Amino acid sequence: MGSRSVVITGASRGIGLALTRVFADHGHRVFALVRKPDAQPIREVIRSYPEQIIAIKVDVRDAESVAIAAQQVAPHAPDGIDIVVNNAGILLSREVMEPRKFAIEELHRTIDTNTVGPLRVVQAFLDLLEKRVASIAAHENAWRPRVVNVSSVMGSVASVSERRNYSYSVSKAALNMLTRIIAFDLKELGIDAFLVHPGWVRTEMGGPAAHFSEEESANGLYRQILGWTSGDAEFIDFRGSALTW
Ligand SMILES: NC(=O)c1ccc[n+]([C@@H]2O[C@H](COP(=O)([O-])OP(=O)(O)OC[C@H]3O[C@@H](n4cnc5c(N)ncnc54)[C@H](OP(=O)(O)O)[C@@H]3O)[C@@H](O)[C@H]2O)c1
Repeated sequence: MGSRSVVITGASRGIGLALTRVFADHGHRVFALVRKPDAQPIREVIRSYPEQIIAIKVDVRDAESVAIAAQQVAPHAPDGIDIVVNNAGILLSREVMEPRKFAIEELHRTIDTNTVGPLRVVQAFLDLLEKRVASIAAHENAWRPRVVNVSSVMGSVASVSERRNYSYSVSKAALNMLTRIIAFDLKELGIDAFLVHPGWVRTEMGGPAAHFSEEESANGLYRQILGWTSGDAEFIDFRGSALTW
């Protein structure tokens, strides 16, 4: 398998940073989309892989910043982009809301980041994904460029069995639906789209009690992201197991 060009959002820390390191370590090119390109953790990873990682400023809630990022990536990716990983996400609260205390603002902000954010990124990077489709079509037609949306088991409607904070779950359930639907549109352009759950991971979001290290999750995700083929389940965990919707 040759070297791929990969866009990863939320690459400043947690799973996104670990995934950036794993892709670079396997010789791929990573465009690390972060809110602060000069922050220490991403700078340190770039120091280890200076030829392979470029940090680019993005706030996924800001359509203009996403569009500018795509323009900045374009000259570095003359054959287009192979993979877009929509990993950036927020979980603002775990608190279970009482009736009449609906956290409307929290819900808005979470959906804007976790659901609309990935759509902004797909929209901005579509030309570069299509460019890649055109450049690989002749000799490598089994592997298709792909959009990988990082979801969560918390977005599984079928798995809800008790009260819980709804903002995060609603945003990921909506991301799941969005991904299933845009997959049809993207397919016609020669691009695949699917969802991955990274496991419960010891990051700022996952907390210290989580089951998996960032490296375990990122290594598993790396294999699923590259190895996925059309016809496989569309909502899988980092070990490739199909998840319920
Ligand atoms: N950890 C888990 O157990 C777990 C489980 C299931 C799913 N997930 C999903 O996995 C993904 C990564 O989670 P994580 O655990 O690595 O979380 P994390 O450690 O909290 O990191 C979140 C990342 O998202 C970025 N981000 C947040 N808002 C952004 C915005 N508006 N624009 C650009 N970047 C933004 C953050 O950037 P800053 O550094 O600038 O804030 C950071 O890089 C998320 O989509 C999450 O929902 C995680």
